[in-house]
Amino acid sequence: MAKPFRSLELAGSSVKVYSSATHACEAAADRIAKTIRICVEIRSKAVLGLATGATPEPVYAGLVERHRAGELSFAPVSTYNLDEYYPMGPLDPNSYRSYMERHLFGHVDLAPDRAHILDGTVPAAFAAQSAAQFDHWIAADGGLDLQLLGVGRNGHIGFNEPTDLSVAEALALPTRPVDLHPTTTEDAAGDFGGADRVPRRALTMGIASILAARSILVLAFGPRKAEAVAGSLRGPMTARVPGSLLQAVGPKVTWLVDREAAAEIL
Ligand code: F6R
Repeated sequence: MAKPFRSLELAGSSVKVYSSATHACEAAADRIAKTIRICVEIRSKAVLGLATGATPEPVYAGLVERHRAGELSFAPVSTYNLDEYYPMGPLDPNSYRSYMERHLFGHVDLAPDRAHILDGTVPAAFAAQSAAQFDHWIAADGGLDLQLLGVGRNGHIGFNEPTDLSVAEALALPTRPVDLHPTTTEDAAGDFGGADRVPRRALTMGIASILAARSILVLAFGPRKAEAVAGSLRGPMTARVPGSLLQAVGPKVTWLVDREAAAEIL
């Protein structure tokens, strides 16, 4: 099992700093596999909240490896992804449904009716209603045992972008359609072949939905994330830095970061 070279507590959360993203991702895969085993043992199922993006790719590779080695089954697992672009068809290579099929769903024994992703194909007039259903599905499934998160350069979690809302208002945000922040669009430009091709909107699990998970694992790697990590852990709680809202549930949050992303907190 990969060991952090430094462990600290900030804003009530445990922060583990690893010598590399690879080691942090190994630790994340171990933690997810352990959560699945414990939850399945206690109540015959496990419910995971999942993230996409470059950050968790090695984590999914690690989970697939454990599955192939016969160490981990996803048969008793259900998953709920944080977000999806809108509008977006499931077969589009840039959809988060495609991402999840490529990195996890297509390689493990997770049942198709348990792998939930927000639907980027619903008519615009029903997008809010459809997204809100997601919170009901998660509650009906018993709530999330573990939510995996990345963090955006601008501090976003899921696609909960920086806003001028009060902290109380932001903490209550449900799963819903949102406008993407210019920084997010810029960061996705490479995948879409230009910023003008990135959808302007998305569907995202809300801050309230994320914070309701029984445990939260946040991954951040590389120098580009250092400011967002520091703002989330050292700054005040503010909706301008959505990651800082995790401080509201500090004890159930673990940050796994590499040296570069930890540059401003050490
Ligand atoms: C992805 C998501 C986003 C990403 C964040 C970091 O499902 O919700 O918040 O976690 O944008 O993205 P990467 O990992 O590509 O740097």
